[in-house]
Amino acid sequence: MKNILLFTMICTISLYAQKFEKLALTPPMGWNTWNTFASDINETKIREIADVMVSNGMKEAGYKYLIIDDCWQGGRDSLGFIYPDALKFPSGMKALADYIHSKGLKFGIYSDPGNKTCAGYTGSRGHEYQDALTYAKWGVDYLKYDWCDTDSLNAFGAYSTMRDALFAAKRPVVFNLCEWGNHQPWLWGKNVGHLWRISGDIAPCFDCEVSHGTYSDYGIMRVVGMRSGIRNYAGPGHWNDFDMMEVGKGMTQNEDRAHFSLWCMLATPLTTGNDLRKMSEETKNIITNKEAIAVNQDSLGIEAFLYNTKDSVEVWAKPLMNNEWAICFLNRSAKLKRIDFDWAKNIIIDDFAKRELNASKDIYNIRDLWAKKNVGKTTDILKSELAPHNVLMIRLNK
Ligand code: GLA
Repeated sequence: MKNILLFTMICTISLYAQKFEKLALTPPMGWNTWNTFASDINETKIREIADVMVSNGMKEAGYKYLIIDDCWQGGRDSLGFIYPDALKFPSGMKALADYIHSKGLKFGIYSDPGNKTCAGYTGSRGHEYQDALTYAKWGVDYLKYDWCDTDSLNAFGAYSTMRDALFAAKRPVVFNLCEWGNHQPWLWGKNVGHLWRISGDIAPCFDCEVSHGTYSDYGIMRVVGMRSGIRNYAGPGHWNDFDMMEVGKGMTQNEDRAHFSLWCMLATPLTTGNDLRKMSEETKNIITNKEAIAVNQDSLGIEAFLYNTKDSVEVWAKPLMNNEWAICFLNRSAKLKRIDFDWAKNIIIDDFAKRELNASKDIYNIRDLWAKKNVGKTTDILKSELAPHNVLMIRLNK
């Protein structure tokens, strides 16, 4: 009874507390250290990545946040203030943030509500307000807040505490609730943060599970299929986060393209995780495809849904602004598949967005977003071939 009362009190207080509004009105775009470097990070690498994000066209394509994940922490001083590892970051975080800002980018950092982070570094437990002040002093624009070492914690309470601390520190920060979906953050996250993870960690494979004994990492399609019925909870300022991308990390080019297309369709944050300094031309072309990114960044902010699956070809649909649509055909199988899609026989209805795609009422032009050319109209049957794990991603406009 006492616990229920306490929880109700916390919820009520938190309902009146605030997150920073008007941030992340479209899914945040950036790069994060974890998928490639894990603990092997330092300020030289981060500066090099910042330089590359500007010179390779990513900044122009919309990527803004450069996020340092776990393993940057050195410890706490005698007053309890956090400081970075002096070997990895000898110039300190303020200087690094200044450098990133001087490039026109934004600076993100990582912490955890436990005493220890997932990699065993200093967490924020009991120091939330102090840490938020420190981040504001350094110039932090984005905080990824993980969920390790939290056995005794209530998720809503722990994330609300940090939200309140960030708000009190007065520097607008995009707040990423990296809670893995364990406590259904889509149900309570809208007033707490700007994005929330819906899964455990992603792995660089199309459809695999990588077991670590007590937990697993999941390939692209496993993450996509992990939850159902949560698209209604996402929208401008509060996104389902399907995790950082694995594009350019060993999958085939078709799989990378499928992965990126799905992330665009799902209106999920586009956080790249490959070594940008060494990526191939093909990888760069995938992550900077402006027409695909425009689908992700559409201001309606509606997450795609799976319209149907026939013979291993999935059809994903995403309503866009101005009555337009994005449609993505995905070949899940290891065999070549033919698409033979009769628009007149496929009336696509989205009950959530209250939208209908009915080709017998409205005629659309079809734009292939990877070939970057117009490929006909919805009055004709769409015919195409799809290689294994490849996509045909199109935009319908009038
Ligand atoms: C967790 C998160 C990852 C990453 C690591 C860092 O596993 O889900 O995204 O931040 O911790 O230790």
